[in-house]
Amino acid sequence: MAVGIFDSGLGGLTVLDAASRQLPDVPFVYYGDNANAPYGVRDADDIYELTTRGCARLFEAGCDLVILACNTASAAALRRMQEGWVPTDKRVLGVFVPLIEALTERQWGDNSPPREVAVEHVALFATPATVASRAFQRELAFRAIGVDVEAQACGGLVDAIEEGDLILAEVLVRGHVDALRRKMPRPQAAILGCTHYPLMLDIFQEALGPDVTVYSQAQLVAASLEDYLKRHPAMVGPGEESLFLTTGDTRKVSNNATQFLRRQITFLPA
Ligand code: DGL
Repeated sequence: MAVGIFDSGLGGLTVLDAASRQLPDVPFVYYGDNANAPYGVRDADDIYELTTRGCARLFEAGCDLVILACNTASAAALRRMQEGWVPTDKRVLGVFVPLIEALTERQWGDNSPPREVAVEHVALFATPATVASRAFQRELAFRAIGVDVEAQACGGLVDAIEEGDLILAEVLVRGHVDALRRKMPRPQAAILGCTHYPLMLDIFQEALGPDVTVYSQAQLVAASLEDYLKRHPAMVGPGEESLFLTTGDTRKVSNNATQFLRRQITFLPA
């Protein structure tokens, strides 16, 4: 048994990297649906079909627990999957909640009523589908009051990262930060609401300036995964190999992944 990590493409590797540092003895099976990325421009039914297909493949690979390391799938498909698709002996968890808990200074699973928090002006950078879902704002409203969120749909950024075109990706990040600033001149915090974006973290931070706290998911999700596995140890077991699966071109995806994580990553066909 291993833990599955799902993403539309390379972005979930940021979560995988943090999770495997935090839990070095846990085998992880990664599934990147690179052939169908980006998800951020697809409709909810399409994202649901692709996400359930990927998760089924991860169950087949021996994972009882799958982390949707994809905000777009978490926003557009997770609730529907949990309501009627996930088998009773399996779990599929999303990536929003740890991030929102960090932003709102909450401990894991603190479900007390919403209250005022330190930040008032928050910039959200995410894919068009995640922004359209308003899932971040919904989750935030359960926990905090008085927070003004300005969302910027970062069209084109996932494609540029998937293509390994970091020059274009940098231009797009700077353009999206400028566009955000026209709507919210002084954000106190910025949420990178797409797991691809931490691959451009330095550029986001530079463009936003040193006074803006940038929240990205990898470390936060890894810490809550560790916490979850402590409370549900049966959801993981020893002895399986880590594996990288892709629906895309294995050579190209392996090369880009190796470049991003700065260690050799070899993908196999999903
Ligand atoms: N990494 C995915 C996310 O977190 C990217 C989605 C996409 O393929 O557009 O939203």
